[in-house]
Amino acid sequence: DAVANRMERLTDVASAKKQKFEEILKPLYLGEDKIKRLMDVMEEQMKLATSKDENTRKKSDILMAVTHVRCLLQGGENGDYLGLDLGGTNFRVVRVQLKDGMASTTTKYYTLTEQVLSGPCAGVFDFIAESIKDFLQQENLINSDSKIPLGFTFSFPSTQLALNSAILLTWTKSFKCPDGVGSDSVQLLEQAIARKAPGLPVDIVAVMSDTTSTLMAGNYLDKKCRIGVILGTGSNAAFVEHLENIEKYGGDFKEPKQVLVNVEWGCMGDSGCLDFYKTEFEKEIDQHSNHVNSFTFEKSFAGMYLGEFVRLVLVKLTNEGVLFNGHVTEELATRWKFTSGFVTKIDSDKDKETTNTRNILEKLNLSTASDEDIAIVREVCDFVVQRASYIVAAALAVLIRHVNLPEVTVAIDGSLYEHHPKFHNYMMELISQLNLHTQVKLILAKDGSGQGAAFAAVAALRQIEENIV
Ligand code: GLC
Repeated sequence: DAVANRMERLTDVASAKKQKFEEILKPLYLGEDKIKRLMDVMEEQMKLATSKDENTRKKSDILMAVTHVRCLLQGGENGDYLGLDLGGTNFRVVRVQLKDGMASTTTKYYTLTEQVLSGPCAGVFDFIAESIKDFLQQENLINSDSKIPLGFTFSFPSTQLALNSAILLTWTKSFKCPDGVGSDSVQLLEQAIARKAPGLPVDIVAVMSDTTSTLMAGNYLDKKCRIGVILGTGSNAAFVEHLENIEKYGGDFKEPKQVLVNVEWGCMGDSGCLDFYKTEFEKEIDQHSNHVNSFTFEKSFAGMYLGEFVRLVLVKLTNEGVLFNGHVTEELATRWKFTSGFVTKIDSDKDKETTNTRNILEKLNLSTASDEDIAIVREVCDFVVQRASYIVAAALAVLIRHVNLPEVTVAIDGSLYEHHPKFHNYMMELISQLNLHTQVKLILAKDGSGQGAAFAAVAALRQIEENIV
């Protein structure tokens, strides 16, 4: 089986060590049965989350937030639009000028300080308001007669009430504001504009998750795009769902009979429904994470955790005498020291090359690692990454089934997908094994969430005009 095949690759490793290696890695192996079960769980979670009945919805770990975005770009659009992207440490303002459907995009980055990220949320929104003002000055739009439509990517779990109204459920990632939960992010921004830049010529017409805007950006690149995925520090997805599949849907049933749904899959498993594949490593990651007992699904594969996952496996192998002569250095013993960037580097060594792996091991004070150690470390990274890719691909496959078209393109953004050399191929490997009766293409939508927010503003205006709600 898969673990045994890996062992065969470790030709020069003594057989006693191989046996230990197999014992430790075996629980990580996700066979067909577990993948199928994960897909069933996801399907069930989606069904619960879209129920008409509130108590049933509460049984689901995921949100399945109806975004109210019903239209994708048609092509041929014209005009000037703005997009904002808040979620990482870099806040972005973008201007998208559409001419007969062709977009030219100008982006400016603004860095939020640690202090702003952990202070009252008014500080975050004041910062955004001032950045928009700065950007409009740069673009000579500050004295514009008409208000410029603006789409706001706000990548935190929220309850979406309308195209331009979303109530924050929780801050995540590096945002630690003590307040803001329960407030409408659009109102918070409007209040900040009134405080810091009154009269700013902008009209906030849409607020959305980064997955929604990535989907919009992907659809601009490829008309077959129906799914947006973020595979970076955190992970999540949005897809174009048929209205009749969403029992809780409360809007009209006009054409197009579809709406973008923001899954918020990062929290799947918080109720225990994914315990069947969780290993001791995931449990340990969780116990030492910022949000204990939450964001369970993400913890098996997202960028914030993947390096720590590998580190824990390496520590266990070392303690069992398989690696580094049984000696765990202080650096290797330090939590979160091994980043997913390290995993990307190690996996970037081709065939017999070992330069990257050796460089990373040096950072961990393991420069005396033997060739055998190097081979084992590389095998571990590859195994953890294959498992991670399979997990995210299995969840993605469920969305592909829902979209139910002969061909579907998936737009993906995030550092893990962009930089890791094997994620794409492993995801495709599982998707093809699943025989979905859909031709699937995965594309990178780099920095799509700023531009995509502006595209969502275009869609919002069209919906207002055609009264699609
Ligand atoms: C986290 C957030 C989610 C976001 C994802 C990707 O999971 O909760 O809202 O979409 O990260 O940035």
